[in-house]
Amino acid sequence: MKTIRKLIGVMALSALTTAPALAVTGPVTLSKESETCIGCHKRVSPGIVSQWKNSAHSGAGIGCYECHKAQSVDPDAQKHFGFYIRTVLSPKACGKCHVQEAKEFMASYHSKGGKFVESPKNVLGLLTTGAPNAFVGCARCHGSKVRLDAKGRPIAGTWPNQGIGRYNPDGTQGSCTACHYAHSFSLKQAREPKTCGRCHQGPDHPDIEIFELSKHGIAWEAHKSEIESKLDRKYLILGEDYAHAPACFTCHMGATVNGLKTTHDVGARNSWNLRGPISKHTKNWKKKRKDMQKVCLVCHSRTWVKDFYKAFDAYVELYNKKFAIPAKQMVTFLHKKGVLDAVPFNEQVEWDYWHLWHHEGRRGRQGTAMAAADYSHWQGIYLVAYNFYFKFLPHADQAVMKAYKEGKISKSVVRQWNALKKRILSRKEHKWFTAKSMDEIKALERYYLENFLKQMAR
Ligand code: HEC
Ligand code: HEC
Ligand code: HEC
Ligand code: HEC
Ligand code: HEC
Ligand code: HEC
Ligand code: HEC
Ligand code: HEC
Repeated sequence: MKTIRKLIGVMALSALTTAPALAVTGPVTLSKESETCIGCHKRVSPGIVSQWKNSAHSGAGIGCYECHKAQSVDPDAQKHFGFYIRTVLSPKACGKCHVQEAKEFMASYHSKGGKFVESPKNVLGLLTTGAPNAFVGCARCHGSKVRLDAKGRPIAGTWPNQGIGRYNPDGTQGSCTACHYAHSFSLKQAREPKTCGRCHQGPDHPDIEIFELSKHGIAWEAHKSEIESKLDRKYLILGEDYAHAPACFTCHMGATVNGLKTTHDVGARNSWNLRGPISKHTKNWKKKRKDMQKVCLVCHSRTWVKDFYKAFDAYVELYNKKFAIPAKQMVTFLHKKGVLDAVPFNEQVEWDYWHLWHHEGRRGRQGTAMAAADYSHWQGIYLVAYNFYFKFLPHADQAVMKAYKEGKISKSVVRQWNALKKRILSRKEHKWFTAKSMDEIKALERYYLENFLKQMAR
């Protein structure tokens, strides 16, 4: 049996919340089984063996078999040159050794990301676009169900898939490899903002763009080389090991010098749900907000942080009250009264509403949460407003008139629609739209400004 003398002393020494079972202190040995795997796989897949050789797992004596072994009775067990192995590894498989990380991740919202990919509700993924897209599009980010053939091997289309909420053959949900790439399992790679940005990008949740173009992202990039050598450390403490700038993991997962422990629940510090049609507070939001603020306080003053959150809240409430709640009210009316049929996405106004909350509305809210002004405004609520006044409302009007002409609704429904629209547009925040003179506009502007400053006052 070959002995691997590589120690991971430095990493094991930075014991903070280290699970003692994982601390390696002496020379480590590799199992006979794993040596057999490697003997063959260094020819079959030399890249994998080489990645593994340079990993912390290799240094700790964790070989191929320790991760890939299965029992003959497991549904995903494959017979493989005298061994039973599995290809797809679930959080439970990693969790045999990484208990705490697996517990936190499996309890997080992240691990539930695959829940609707194959549901009949996914009209957009399965029908509007087409089923192959649901698997190479939605599922590569969200995860979907991995299916097996009679020999226990994963079936094409359903794998390769390392989506965040993948349904694994052992019945668990989630995938650690969504962030920890096999077979290096490098923490430097996991901490890379782009690791999150692979999924958190694009028109509906441009978190990587938001971050990279915020002061935080710019400072992170500018000073990265100064902490490059530390990014592979098992534990990295903000305020002790680095303090130039935060990355995604810093705010959403990282440990801090003022007492926060690292977590694998990325939602653990979020006080709002900033992705739904209407933003609501999360469960236990005050405690979650306090934790996020601890991160900020390593680098900012109390006033800075408190005032940032005040303006952030005001923005979310503006989005909710002025646009999201009224738009939802109107869409619900149109569906209930039979102006729109039950089929989703077959009417223009349904696409307008979708873009309003799922695209520009989300961009604005998330841009504001993470301090990227262009996303708050031009890519955010500017387009929400344009959509609301000049797409959603006129298209809703057209749909009402069309339904009336086709005899689907009565005159009374048309009147109810007009009354609802009028009620909404005569609210203070929409009054500018029907104003008749610049004097009226100036008075409204004064009112809005004074009102905002009053709301912000200490
Ligand atoms: C005698 C050679 C040999 C030995 C020993 C061997 N493998 Fe393989 N393994 C292969 C070949 C060949 C493939 C198929 C490679 C391909 O499709 O490109 C493979 C494929 C795999 C796959 C991917 C299967 C899939 O569904 O895509 C895994 C995982 C794997 N081996 C793990 C192991 C582990 C773990 C061991 C040790 C317990 C092991 N192998 C031992 C030759 C070997
Ligand atoms: C720390 C756990 C771990 C160790 C150790 C490990 N693997 Fe893997 N392996 C994985 C994960 C995770 C995947 C991705 C499968 C999935 O989708 O869940 C994987 C996938 C694979 C695949 C298929 C993926 C591909 O890119 O074709 C092969 C083949 C494989 N492993 C072989 C090996 C061999 C050979 C070794 C030993 C040198 C090894 N593994 C060691 C975790 C491990
Ligand atoms: C048989 C036990 C075992 C299994 C299974 C296992 N690991 Fe590990 N892992 C270890 C040990 C031991 C270390 C090195 C000691 C440490 O860092 O705590 C380690 C280290 C790590 C590290 C830190 C790497 C570094 O550079 O410090 C990551 C990330 C990791 N494992 C992820 C995974 C993932 C993801 C899986 C499942 C695909 C997995 N591990 C499966 C035992 C295991
Ligand atoms: C959303 C991305 C993501 C997922 C999913 C994820 N991790 Fe991590 N993981 C990270 C990041 C980022 C770090 C570094 C955290 C830090 O510095 O505070 C990390 C750190 C670790 C470490 C080093 C010790 C620690 O706890 O900080 C281990 C071990 C680990 N992860 C294992 C796992 C396992 C096992 C799973 C699946 C159950 C998993 N991770 C899922 C991103 C992820
Ligand atoms: C493989 C794709 C993928 C990766 C990688 C990924 N995420 Fe996510 N994330 C998602 C999906 C999908 C959701 C929505 C979950 C759902 O629909 O259930 C989500 C949700 C979230 C949420 C909201 C969670 C909540 O509880 O409210 C946060 C915050 C988040 N991710 C941060 C991160 C960070 C930080 C990283 C990197 C360390 C990361 N994500 C990596 C796909 C990913
Ligand atoms: C590039 C990766 C990616 C692709 C492709 C993708 N999503 Fe997402 N999706 C995400 C992320 C990341 C989030 C979480 C955003 C957040 O928290 O703000 C998300 C959030 C969602 C949500 C909100 C979930 C909730 O629980 O509130 C739904 C619904 C959704 N996506 C549906 C889809 C559908 C359907 C498809 C395919 C037609 C799709 N997504 C394709 C990454 C992706
Ligand atoms: C400076 C700290 C910080 C950094 C860096 C950061 N975030 Fe955030 N993030 C926040 C705050 C604060 C919120 C809003 C928290 C709340 O709701 O109270 C947030 C909200 C989010 C949300 C909305 C979650 C939802 O669905 O409701 C997602 C997704 C997200 N961040 C992902 C990321 C990703 C991905 C990165 C890196 C590309 C990143 N964040 C970088 C602080 C940060
Ligand atoms: C690791 C240090 C660090 C952390 C942690 C951090 N920031 Fe910053 N932040 C900075 C630096 C550096 C700047 C630039 C300061 C300047 O120029 O005055 C900055 C700037 C900002 C700005 C100004 C953005 C602009 O475009 O004008 C806001 C707002 C902000 N941070 C909020 C937060 C919030 C909220 C948190 C916690 C969720 C946070 N920061 C966490 C380092 C940090």
